[in-house]
Amino acid sequence: MNSKQAAAEKAVSFIQNDMIVGLGTGSTAYWAIEGIGRRIKEEGLRIKAIATSKRSEEQARGLQIPIFSFAEIDSIDVTIDGADEVDSNMNLIKGGGGALLREKIVASNTTQLIIVVDENKRVQWLGKFPLPVEVAIFGWEKTCKKLEALGCIPRLRTTENQPYITDNGNYIIDCDFKEIKQPQVLHEKMNAIVGVMENGLFIGMTKKLIVGYENGETRTSDWND
Ligand code: 5RP
Repeated sequence: MNSKQAAAEKAVSFIQNDMIVGLGTGSTAYWAIEGIGRRIKEEGLRIKAIATSKRSEEQARGLQIPIFSFAEIDSIDVTIDGADEVDSNMNLIKGGGGALLREKIVASNTTQLIIVVDENKRVQWLGKFPLPVEVAIFGWEKTCKKLEALGCIPRLRTTENQPYITDNGNYIIDCDFKEIKQPQVLHEKMNAIVGVMENGLFIGMTKKLIVGYENGETRTSDWND
């Protein structure tokens, strides 16, 4: 079992019958979805799930995990998702997999956001991983200039030499800040720019962090305010 799978499996053990569960996106969340599918098959676990991307929804449907929309549920009990960076205050950079807007909508409607990572994701300061920002395609060049003015080197995300398009039909600009010393301030400045749909800073949203290690062990930390 690799470190990502170990962290994801541990998180899946917190899921109980009748919970509404948010399914994250990425190579770590992948293992959580697999684990939930296995528990449904082997234990008859009864849950309702909501997915943060088309990719995760497809995986879940293939495992007979029942998928619902926001119109059909109230709030989400637990979401299991990965992260690109985690600082010592459990603030995150997310969106490396391009699902940050849906991930943040799901996280902000979740009672307990459990973040699952391998040990390489722990950092002292956020920002070495370029911060993904989802922007409207219309006028993106101007939006990009305004992001640059916040002190980063912005780069339009591409795939196969074409701009990457999110599940919501937007672009992503990856903003290289090197170090983000005031994540809350930056979060507010970015989201105040017209054309920015959402940025990948998740501040104060996580209360449980599970780190997986190469030897298959995990460490769980709870944030108490
Ligand atoms: C997707 C995300 C992912 O959670 C993040 O990129 C981490 O991915 P991985 O688990 O593959 O390292 O935010 O938008």
